[in-house]
Amino acid sequence: MNASRIALVTGANQGLGRALVEGLAPRMNPGDLVLLTGRNPQRVTDAAREVTQLPGTRARVEGRVLDVTDTDAIARLAGDVRARFGGVDVVVSNAVARLMPEESQAERADEFIDVSNRATHAILRSFGPVLRPGGRLLVVASSLGTLGHLAPRLHHLFDGASLEQVEYAVESWRSALHNGTAQEAGWPVWLNVPSKVAQVAAVRAVAAERRAQDLIDSTLIASVCPGMVDTATSRPWFSDYSQAQTPAQAARPVLDLIFAEHVDPALYGELVRFGKALPWHDGTPPLEQDRMLTRASDSARRRR
Ligand SMILES: NC(=O)c1ccc[n+]([C@@H]2O[C@H](COP(=O)([O-])OP(=O)(O)OC[C@H]3O[C@@H](n4cnc5c(N)ncnc54)[C@H](OP(=O)(O)O)[C@@H]3O)[C@@H](O)[C@H]2O)c1
Repeated sequence: MNASRIALVTGANQGLGRALVEGLAPRMNPGDLVLLTGRNPQRVTDAAREVTQLPGTRARVEGRVLDVTDTDAIARLAGDVRARFGGVDVVVSNAVARLMPEESQAERADEFIDVSNRATHAILRSFGPVLRPGGRLLVVASSLGTLGHLAPRLHHLFDGASLEQVEYAVESWRSALHNGTAQEAGWPVWLNVPSKVAQVAAVRAVAAERRAQDLIDSTLIASVCPGMVDTATSRPWFSDYSQAQTPAQAARPVLDLIFAEHVDPALYGELVRFGKALPWHDGTPPLEQDRMLTRASDSARRRR
């Protein structure tokens, strides 16, 4: 990376986001700036200070309060970054609302959708145009983000959709959740599934529009799947943690994508896991996901 580069990560005071900041700071230059963002001022300040004090940290790390449900704040921050630095080099949209297995998915849907989806749309809209040539704009999704995880009758909502069409699909899903018609319409109970598919579809939509120029400039827009990571969000969902990565381990392939000198056209716009694109149309049957959700909820109830 060249000098005076700017990176920004959302939901970065803990978990994978924090590990990404901890991995960016040593691999960037002393004149560079990493904006560690999160919704809580104290947690953000503490995390920025702690990362600054890590032995390998080279770039400046600054905390910024950014509640990603405030889409105006996202737009303001993008405007500020443009005014102060002329653009941004790395943006990672990572934040997620924590859901516990014993909670009602439908009752937490608004927050979940706002943090993962409305925020992703706003980040793509606000930071896409500010991304400098050679930059990276990554959305942290998951392996659940491929289209095959949804019932076939929902595929047309996301397959080849524009960003506006993805937004429309997300809002239809939200309305169906409010009306109690979501399951009848084929939406999975587990919010994470449509949410991640929609994030990947939103990235695909934006990437499709700018692919040619971005590949000339070595700019990458993609979604990423970190694999299973031991964080406070994922821990309540699994009884066996033997396969989970630490956040630092999960951050490494994402950082490799960020710091790769060349953009592989096969990864551009795709959902990338451990350096490989996951086929968009793949996925496991929705029934199996709902069974997994039921199992996790049952075991959470038994633990109480
Ligand atoms: N963990 C896994 O196994 C796994 C697997 C696949 C994909 N992922 C994805 O990886 C990403 C990170 O997940 P994680 O496991 O690292 O979660 P995590 O440890 O719970 O971190 C989530 C972060 O998002 C922040 N956040 C929540 N609401 C926010 C808001 N309104 N505005 C700004 N920030 C907000 C949290 O802030 P607070 O500290 O203030 O709550 C926290 O910093 C997510 O996109 C997740 O879906 C994780």
